Amino acid sequence: MKFFLDTANLDELKRGAAWGIVDGVTTNPTLIAREGRPIEEQIRLICGVVDGDISAEVISTEAEGMVAEGLKLAAIHKNVVVKCPLTRDGIEATSKLSKQGIRVNVTLCFSAGQALLAAKAGAYIVSPFVGRLDDVGATGMDVVRAIVQIYRNYGYKTQVLAASMRSPAHVIDAALAGAQIATMPFKVLDMLFNHPLTDKGLEQFLKDWGKAFPEPAAGR
Ligand code: G3P
Repeated sequence: MKFFLDTANLDELKRGAAWGIVDGVTTNPTLIAREGRPIEEQIRLICGVVDGDISAEVISTEAEGMVAEGLKLAAIHKNVVVKCPLTRDGIEATSKLSKQGIRVNVTLCFSAGQALLAAKAGAYIVSPFVGRLDDVGATGMDVVRAIVQIYRNYGYKTQVLAASMRSPAHVIDAALAGAQIATMPFKVLDMLFNHPLTDKGLEQFLKDWGKAFPEPAAGR
């Protein structure tokens, strides 16, 4: 399973990249706006930190504008994946960009039917938003599971990226559902490390070692 960080913050990306477990980055207009730099500049900086797929989203709402923006974003760096929303225009732009060899992440996907449209348009990635579905009383992971099954049934190559991950449990469930990618805020990636028995076990190991070898370098 690939782990992407859902952030445009360079400090968070550097911390995640240092662990060697970050395969890519997703951004959206909200996350880019938070950092205060023009999108081209921010995406270029991100590409310098993480070597993997970096999603950059268009803000046009008409297909023609999305295609023009998508071509500009894709020209920033070879790792850029253009993000288009799952609207009629977004799907038209996805078809057009995909035919030109531009990799597209279709975002704001909330149903398996929408995901079928993305696959048929040649999307490289589809992003179902699990947390936001949970927020409105649905079960977001059911949608991820359905998409994975449908894509398998027909051999679609579009990768399923479980987005809007709010907890480690979401990430585990996305892995069980067979999503190829999970994108998560830094906080969720960090929480995946935590287990009280790890802390307790390490404390005990060090205590036992310290009793046997009171000098720090001894016993090695
Ligand atoms: O970037 C897309 C998605 O992961 C957003 O998540 O937490 O804003 O619903 P969230």
